[in-house]
Amino acid sequence: MSIMAKSVLTVALAFCGAAVAVAGEADGKVTFHKDVEPILQKNCQTCHRPSGMNISGMIAPMSLMDYAEVRPWAKAVAKAVEARQMPPWNASAKHNGKFSNERVLTDTEIATLGKWIAQGASRGNPADAPAPMTFPESGWNMGTPDLIVGFDKPYFVADDVEDLYQNITVTLTDEQLSEDKWISGIEFRPGSEVVHHIMGYKYSPGEQAGDQAKGLLGGNAPGADAGEFPEGYGMLLKKGSSLTFALHYHKESGPGTGVSDSSQMAFKFHDKPVMHEVKIWNISYGSFEIPPFEKKWRVGASQLFEEDTMLLGLMPHTHLRGVYAKYTAFYPDGKVEELLEVPTYDFNWQTTYKYKDIKVLPKGTRMEMELHFDNSAENAERGKFNPAQTVRFGGPTTDEMDLAWITTAPAAEMDAATKTAAATTGD
Ligand code: HEC
Repeated sequence: MSIMAKSVLTVALAFCGAAVAVAGEADGKVTFHKDVEPILQKNCQTCHRPSGMNISGMIAPMSLMDYAEVRPWAKAVAKAVEARQMPPWNASAKHNGKFSNERVLTDTEIATLGKWIAQGASRGNPADAPAPMTFPESGWNMGTPDLIVGFDKPYFVADDVEDLYQNITVTLTDEQLSEDKWISGIEFRPGSEVVHHIMGYKYSPGEQAGDQAKGLLGGNAPGADAGEFPEGYGMLLKKGSSLTFALHYHKESGPGTGVSDSSQMAFKFHDKPVMHEVKIWNISYGSFEIPPFEKKWRVGASQLFEEDTMLLGLMPHTHLRGVYAKYTAFYPDGKVEELLEVPTYDFNWQTTYKYKDIKVLPKGTRMEMELHFDNSAENAERGKFNPAQTVRFGGPTTDEMDLAWITTAPAAEMDAATKTAAATTGD
């Protein structure tokens, strides 16, 4: 008798629960597990997790992995996404859908986060939670590398250092690389918290190490993802090559602040033939002079493509005074296409905009880049540079750079002979 009553009660409760859930949906009750957690998983957790994606100088300040971690940040989260500060992505919204590494929330997602706060940021039913995100066990975002290269010995960043640009070059041994390989992925891992960024360069045997116009592999500047090339595309790493870590160390100076650093770069190699050799190079004017207190100084340059070329990615690079970037293609048939506009360029986020569908630039295409610099006291980075200065091209962030980086490959497939030659001229 009592058992009967109990089961009737259970059924009634279950019904009741279902009715509430439906009503909840109808009046739009937003909960963490049901509505918010999936958005954070997809758009925030690669960076906002313990030992989050190490993006050097810009390590995410807090983990957003579960309700307990997110709740104290709920208001800040809603504010950051409404202002479109988070997730970090500076390209104009007109390009949405074009780049594979896009970090953009939809209007609906932003509204959902806002509603969640307005309704009291409730947790909801843990049974609604999506499966937790999993991250590669190796700790490398691109998955387990085929080759990891470090310094020959740790580098000591001395007590008196505040900013230091240091190149460290290592030569690959035959044990590390016994034959020429096509790179499919490159990733950098800072070996200490004083690494602000790392750029990597490769030099084949016989090439001059330190010639940074050549052999750029990529870097882990804030915002950069692992460099990955699709099937058929790669960079050649020859047996016996040298690799340069171009490091920017940044820390407070003083007794006892010295840190030992052992940064690494890692590679994945293609196991299928590569038809297109990828190069990262730049369009730059170089000899600009930005006058003191100038609010909007435009620097431009252009490049003619003499062969059909595949365009894989774009990365505008300036220092603190850069505020705007644009790449435009002028096609031989007269058509003009704005490839990329970055209306709110931010030095802190060095993003490579990677094409979802690799773009063809027919022979005769001219690409134009335009960069704007703000050398005034109103610049958001004011205080970090002296606006009374005339500014020219230079390494330190208080000088400027006007590099419109592009990742390209010849459209024509390498013929078998070239491919073999490329793969056998190792020494
Ligand atoms: C590419 C890495 C990355 C992604 C993706 C990312 N963040 Fe961040 N976030 C950062 C870094 C780095 C900072 C600290 C630097 C800064 O404030 O600009 C930060 C700062 C924040 C802050 C400000 C914290 C404070 O101190 O006030 C909030 C809030 C935030 N993120 C929320 C989010 C949310 C929500 C998402 C997803 C919708 C997201 N972030 C996606 C890297 C990231």
